[in-house]
Amino acid sequence: MTTMTINTVVVDLGLRSYEVRISPGLIGRAGAEIAPLLKRKKVAVVTDETVALVHLERLVAALEVEGIAVSSLVLPAGESTKGWSQFAHCVEWLLEQKIERRDVVVAFGGGVIGDLVGFASAVLRRGVRFVQIPTTLLAQVDSSVGGKTGINTAQGKNLVGAFHQPSLVLVDIDALATLSERDFLAGYGEVIKYGLLGDRGFFDWLEVNAPLMVSGDAFARQFAVRRSVEMKAGIVSGDETEEGKRALLNLGHTFCHALEKATGYSDRLLHGEGVAIGCVLAFELSHRMGLCSQEASSRVRAHLKAMRMKTDLRDIPGDLPDVSAMVDLMGQDKKVIDGHLRFVLARGIGEAFVADDVPLDLVTGLLSDALQ
Ligand code: GLY
Repeated sequence: MTTMTINTVVVDLGLRSYEVRISPGLIGRAGAEIAPLLKRKKVAVVTDETVALVHLERLVAALEVEGIAVSSLVLPAGESTKGWSQFAHCVEWLLEQKIERRDVVVAFGGGVIGDLVGFASAVLRRGVRFVQIPTTLLAQVDSSVGGKTGINTAQGKNLVGAFHQPSLVLVDIDALATLSERDFLAGYGEVIKYGLLGDRGFFDWLEVNAPLMVSGDAFARQFAVRRSVEMKAGIVSGDETEEGKRALLNLGHTFCHALEKATGYSDRLLHGEGVAIGCVLAFELSHRMGLCSQEASSRVRAHLKAMRMKTDLRDIPGDLPDVSAMVDLMGQDKKVIDGHLRFVLARGIGEAFVADDVPLDLVTGLLSDALQ
């Protein structure tokens, strides 16, 4: 049995500050963790079918043992849940459960559930508190922290939403044990992003220890999740609504969003896989612009390859659009101004910055080589 040490990271946002607690076994003690937040002993849990199958019974038992009454809604798993129809279903269900402003909603699952339930909580009775219990690596290190909530529409991903911070995030490291290797590695794409954007020592550590994380080492997993959350909390505390520094969290995402659109948000490319490829491309672009060394760029690719992750466009199964269509997809995401694009670039590992003046022809050249 793993020894339980709870790491606590504070997201410092004044009156809306909250803790992210990270440890194995937290689902099993969720009632004790959540009870102090409650004004009456009642919560509504929203989850998806996949998570419900493996973890819901344990969560409900952990809440009930503290005398908390639980009602739960199980939504279909998958990205298509994060749209208007399940959003309306979720909000109406919460109203039927008579969830009031003094109550707490629990978002129990990966990024889809966290974003959808967070947004439902933001608008329900003009805002109720919610607790995130993220069960995927991607949600644990990224989407459950920082208060971005929302849904997708026919026009694109995350175009409707709100900043609504959770009141507490419970990160149970044991939940990672039930992920497929592909889902774990996709989440790892977001972990590596933190080292690349701002902590070279963390990247060095990951180069040595990431294989341990994949093979299930709970200490390595907890360390990497804690360091990622610390970095995210620090950035969000300084720039909650992305006026400046928070944009660094988009390292690799301009390429990733174009690739996700090009692959129809399908199983061909998971979000975290797109982030990993996007980070490789961002470092290559930085090198071509004379900003970072070839060595740094090669190191990023070599590490992701060693982890048997996708690093190149040719690793994505099926055909991709040609260069100009790809650039168009990027242009929709980040404005093209006078032939220049906005990107997160790097001067080296751990030294990312936002550049508003990336020449379009350099991006075109990079993509055309990558599509060879
Ligand atoms: N996932 C990027 C952010 O939270 O800002």
